[in-house]
Amino acid sequence: MKNKLFSILICSSFLIFFFACKKDTVNPETDLSVSQTVSSDSPTVGSNVTFTVTVSNNGPSAATGVTVNYTLPAGYTLVSATPSVGTWASSTWTVGNLANGSGATLTVISKVNSTGPYSNTATIMGSETDPTAGNNIAIKATVPVAPPSTDISVTQTVSNGAPVVGTQVTFSVKVLNNGAIEATGVSVSDVLPAGYTLVSATPSIGTWVAPNWTVGKMTGGSSANLLIVAKVLETGPYENTATATITETDINAANNTSTSSTIPVSAVASKITYNSDVKPLLVVSCAPCHVSGGSYEKWDVYANAKSKINTIIGRVSQTQGSGGFMPYGGTKLSADKIAILNKWVTDGLLEK
Ligand code: HEC
Repeated sequence: MKNKLFSILICSSFLIFFFACKKDTVNPETDLSVSQTVSSDSPTVGSNVTFTVTVSNNGPSAATGVTVNYTLPAGYTLVSATPSVGTWASSTWTVGNLANGSGATLTVISKVNSTGPYSNTATIMGSETDPTAGNNIAIKATVPVAPPSTDISVTQTVSNGAPVVGTQVTFSVKVLNNGAIEATGVSVSDVLPAGYTLVSATPSIGTWVAPNWTVGKMTGGSSANLLIVAKVLETGPYENTATATITETDINAANNTSTSSTIPVSAVASKITYNSDVKPLLVVSCAPCHVSGGSYEKWDVYANAKSKINTIIGRVSQTQGSGGFMPYGGTKLSADKIAILNKWVTDGLLEK
């Protein structure tokens, strides 16, 4: 009996002790919560949006081992993730400890892709019991809009499709904004092929730094021009292409390039001949004295002009009004006419 009493006493004091201990070791509870905001509910595809994830511990206990899972869906490409406390590594924000009543934020910048999904989910977890689970998930979605689009076109023409080798041609490049909105960052590239050397490039607006014409901004419906003067070389290629690009989306890429070409005429084929160059020149300038019916040597006869060409060049090269100057009593021939006579000599005094 004494023994039994003793054991009851021991047991009951142990139970009291047990419950007292149990009360001390009761699991701490926290109410963790997470919320999200976004910088724009309808961001432009291709732009960056900022999501701000806010976590807080509403107590009553201190929270430990707090993590937030934040996996970006396919509609975004992560640019940066910056936590106010803790660390970020591949879609997990390790917050760590959060005192009762404290909070923290994660700033996530991401690029908006052209296709979704666009719904972001943040899920918070901690080591302690959280009886209020309803605020442990925050979902935020955006409805992206297409970037502004327009249509830029470029056309290129050449001043002469059959230029003589050694002469110059002019390529006219015209860029046009066919759209209603302003196009920005308009740029045209025109790489001259090996068949030409650049002489000059003159833009109506913007700047030229070979081979790029930086046009800049173009309002809807406006156009701009670039004149490229180039010398034609003996061997090609002669195909010249201009290509336009813009910052905005171009809804029609097919009209962004334009090519023009030349089929140069060999300088050999353009030799000065008596029949096509010299005779017409002498007949006009030296009539009526030196043509059939006139009183002096007939320059409209190939053999005569050929045999006296040095004298002819000598006479027409004199100072106007001097003793032997020809045309007698007339006006001095222009420099390019005298050059034709000289080239006739160097080309071999061909009749035709
Ligand atoms: C208004 C008449 C007249 C016109 C026009 C004229 N000449 Fe003469 N030319 C003469 C006379 C007169 C002579 C002879 C006197 C002399 O030699 O200066 C002559 C002589 C020459 C001679 C010298 C012939 C020789 O055998 O030495 C040459 C060369 C000549 N002319 C070239 C020309 C040329 C080239 C033109 C046209 C660009 C021209 N002349 C226009 C009147 C003319």
